[in-house]
Amino acid sequence: MLSRVFSCTTIGLEPHLVEVEVDVGNGLPCFELVGLPDTTVRESKERVRTAIKNAGFDFPPRRIIVNLAPADLKKAGPGFDLAIAIGILAATRQICEKEICKYVMVGELSLDGKLRRISGILPMALFLTGNGCRSFIIPADNRGEAGLTPLDSYGFNDLAEVGRFLSKTKSYPMVEKTNTSELLQDRMVSTVVDFADVKGQNTAKRALEVAAAGGHNILMIGPPGSGKTMLAQCMPAILPPLTTKEALEISQVYSIAGLLSKEMPLVTSRPFRTPHHSASLASMIGGGALPRPGEVTLATHGVLFLDEFPEYRRDVLESLRQPLEDGVVTVARVSSVMTFPARFQLVAAANPCYCGYYTDPVRECTCTPYQIKRYRNKISGPLMDRIDLHVEVPRLSYQDLNSSSGEEKSQAVRRRVVAARERQTRRYASEGVYCNAQMGAKERAAFCLLEDDAKLLLKEAFRSLGLSTRAYACVLRMARTIADLAEVEMITDEHIAEALLYRSFERNV
Ligand SMILES: Nc1ncnc2c1ncn2[C@@H]1O[C@H](COP(=O)(O)OP(=O)(O)OP(=O)(O)O)[C@@H](O)[C@H]1O
Ligand SMILES: [Mg+2]
Repeated sequence: MLSRVFSCTTIGLEPHLVEVEVDVGNGLPCFELVGLPDTTVRESKERVRTAIKNAGFDFPPRRIIVNLAPADLKKAGPGFDLAIAIGILAATRQICEKEICKYVMVGELSLDGKLRRISGILPMALFLTGNGCRSFIIPADNRGEAGLTPLDSYGFNDLAEVGRFLSKTKSYPMVEKTNTSELLQDRMVSTVVDFADVKGQNTAKRALEVAAAGGHNILMIGPPGSGKTMLAQCMPAILPPLTTKEALEISQVYSIAGLLSKEMPLVTSRPFRTPHHSASLASMIGGGALPRPGEVTLATHGVLFLDEFPEYRRDVLESLRQPLEDGVVTVARVSSVMTFPARFQLVAAANPCYCGYYTDPVRECTCTPYQIKRYRNKISGPLMDRIDLHVEVPRLSYQDLNSSSGEEKSQAVRRRVVAARERQTRRYASEGVYCNAQMGAKERAAFCLLEDDAKLLLKEAFRSLGLSTRAYACVLRMARTIADLAEVEMITDEHIAEALLYRSFERNV
């Protein structure tokens, strides 16, 4: 007897519908699984066999063939367990076969027949919604993610419950729909350090404010102990809240990476990823035989903080060039090419040289010119060019460190950032970009309107600083953000002058 059950899987970030065909026939007892299964799928045979018995059903001592179609799609993960078990029960008439074609079902089985949560439920549910698909049967622990979508879903604790539901011997309630915007209600992220704890460093603080407001990349350079790491740690608290669209985009990635939990089915604040400088290429940009998202993808719509920037492997740093430019990363493997989103904001911190005191007025730098050059060459020109703000974080004076003047709190800075980001959201509503840093040539021409004085200043700076075309565009984008923080539409010479201040690297070379 043959039965057919629909299931779903994700390859990279893409969901695919999978048809699980089960044939139970005469012959020597065996259990075969075909259709390009990987090890976890192949092992499901043992889980399914034991779970069926322990859930109170009979496992048929017959010849069982399971085919996962389409046969040329690689199948990975334990999510097919439930569909295979239901297929066997339907083929042996232990549950009613008529009902099962209405549902798509996924879930991992434990040996006692319980359903375990799996990763990737959110993108699957959104995919099924978009394809006008039938109802979704999922593990109870995944209910939160499915509830974020308009799809009719049912969450179950074990195989026996699914059996009763499909045989209509007991009814179960549909998963409640959650209002995404309620979960996203504007909340400030609490951080260990507040802007008010950082003494002085007003230029760096303002630069971080501009970076947060416009989603710009920023590099902080300064001697050891000047507060670069401390400043970066304040960043999550001043970042603007996620929009619903952004939250759903990034939550899909987190769902596939298995980083969502039962309690928190949606990413509600901007990601702040801090990979160590020993990170490998695959962990940074994504990889593996079946490519998985890397740090640049997990930082989408948030911040990728690279502390001790030049200490990262050169190939890792250079691999950031494409995602920084395109907002996506393409991972090519022999078996597949995958494109992941990577629209992150880079925050980097570095010392000016190997000993760290090259620009310090007090301590003498002990590096040789060759060492300084070698240290600086670790970050290539094209990579530096992609970082909008370069800001120096100098050593603090004794007076600054002990000044009693009240520093501004992160909350106050955040208010300005949020207002500036709201202006951008309104402006780019129909443009397909989210913030000033993502402006292309078309948006720059339409939205970067300069007063006459500003045009003159920019022309002069272009000549004297030898700005590259990319750096020129970047100054315009930053000036747009500074004008947004000042809540004005026209860009003035003051805004251009401040934007040029953040290209200090151009002045140093
Ligand atoms: N501006 C500041 N206000 C208050 N405390 C500060 C400031 N700058 C540094 N500190 C103190 O110095 C410590 C070291 O600062 P931090 O780790 O941020 O330095 P860093 O610039 O990242 O140094 P490194 O280059 O060695 O990584 C902080 O934990 C903090 O206690
Ligand atoms: Mg540091």
